[in-house]
Amino acid sequence: MRMTIVTSAALQRIGTSATIAMTQKAREMKARGEDVIVLSAGQPDFDTPMHIREAAFEAMQRGETRYPPIAGIPDLRRAIVDKFRRENSLDYTFEETIVCTGGKQVIANALLATLNPGDEVVIPVPGWVSYAQLAEFCGAKPVLVETKLDTEYKLTPEALDMSITAATRWLIFNNPCNPTGAVYTRSELSALADVLTRHPQVMILTDDMYEHIRYDGIEFATFVEVEPSLRERTLTMNGVSKSYAMTGWRIGYGGGPRALIAAMEKLQTQLTSGACSIAQWAAVSALEGPQDYIGESRAAFEARRNLVVGRLRSIDGLECPTPKGAFYAYPSCAALIGRKAPLGKIIETDEDFALELLATAKVAVVHGGAFGAGPNFRVSYAASTREIEVACDRIDEFVRSLK
Ligand SMILES: Cc1ncc(COP(=O)(O)O)c(C=O)c1O
Repeated sequence: MRMTIVTSAALQRIGTSATIAMTQKAREMKARGEDVIVLSAGQPDFDTPMHIREAAFEAMQRGETRYPPIAGIPDLRRAIVDKFRRENSLDYTFEETIVCTGGKQVIANALLATLNPGDEVVIPVPGWVSYAQLAEFCGAKPVLVETKLDTEYKLTPEALDMSITAATRWLIFNNPCNPTGAVYTRSELSALADVLTRHPQVMILTDDMYEHIRYDGIEFATFVEVEPSLRERTLTMNGVSKSYAMTGWRIGYGGGPRALIAAMEKLQTQLTSGACSIAQWAAVSALEGPQDYIGESRAAFEARRNLVVGRLRSIDGLECPTPKGAFYAYPSCAALIGRKAPLGKIIETDEDFALELLATAKVAVVHGGAFGAGPNFRVSYAASTREIEVACDRIDEFVRSLK
């Protein structure tokens, strides 16, 4: 007799990551021999630079294969201190840093270590799929604050102020933003920091994963740099996944107040015992080695952004703002809602749009609803120029076929 697995109430509160589910579905279709173009995954299509891979190999040869210290190997924590100082003018000490299994685990550790039922977590949307889900898993209430196209999908000080209550524990803030590509200027951050200064109960998790991927010469700034008085309640989170094409290595890190880092470390003693030792040595090489990859990949992404935005804008029925960072376009498909797809389905939501696009045109994208707002869809342009061109031809043809 098969046993029924009873899942926890916490697990029942969350869903599977929509980006991962869509990519999985597309990969299965590909495995069946279908000609699918996958623009749903959030990862650079480049290989990890060779010197980083060599550092991992050398670490293995040296026998760096045992349990690492829970909060990260000292060389990596020192490299993180240097990175924050060099690139962000932040002066985190060694003890104020932590290494986790991907950026995602930095966020999960921070929320699991601090949230209680009834706490509120302010999340601007559209925003990355996992923030609200992780807050829900912790029993907290995600407070989604909708950002709009007319403010370039950026959180305004007024909207932030209105969303904060006595129960607010965290603001989770992503800059550059996945999925909209919004990048905040220093003065925009400063205006938001003014609001946060008035609400001392709120901690800030700034997710800077896409720091290096931005265009048109736009500058990057982060909260503590702009408003040092927020230092004692900010977790500055970053990682090597996107900046160095290292999504599979699973290394993320954070800088924050010592008590928060210690709480996250305590949790990590029970959850993972620390991130993979070999991947940590690779990350040392990423942060301290040659940085040419960053400029090269940025130039490639910028050219692709121009291509994809130009193509999507030319499609009647789509509205596509120009992203300033990350590697996603986030067109609105509001004008197409209510139309009939070739297989007979009426498109009622952006999820219908994405599913029909996959079924008919064999292009995998992620529907805007997964990011908490829509109707939009996210197109990752971390793909070859050829794939982007063919995908845009297919999207164009699909949209024309809607009745
Ligand atoms: C905004 C954002 N934060 C965090 C992550 C997670 O990063 P990692 O792959 O290092 O866990 C992602 C990955 O897609 C992301 O887009």
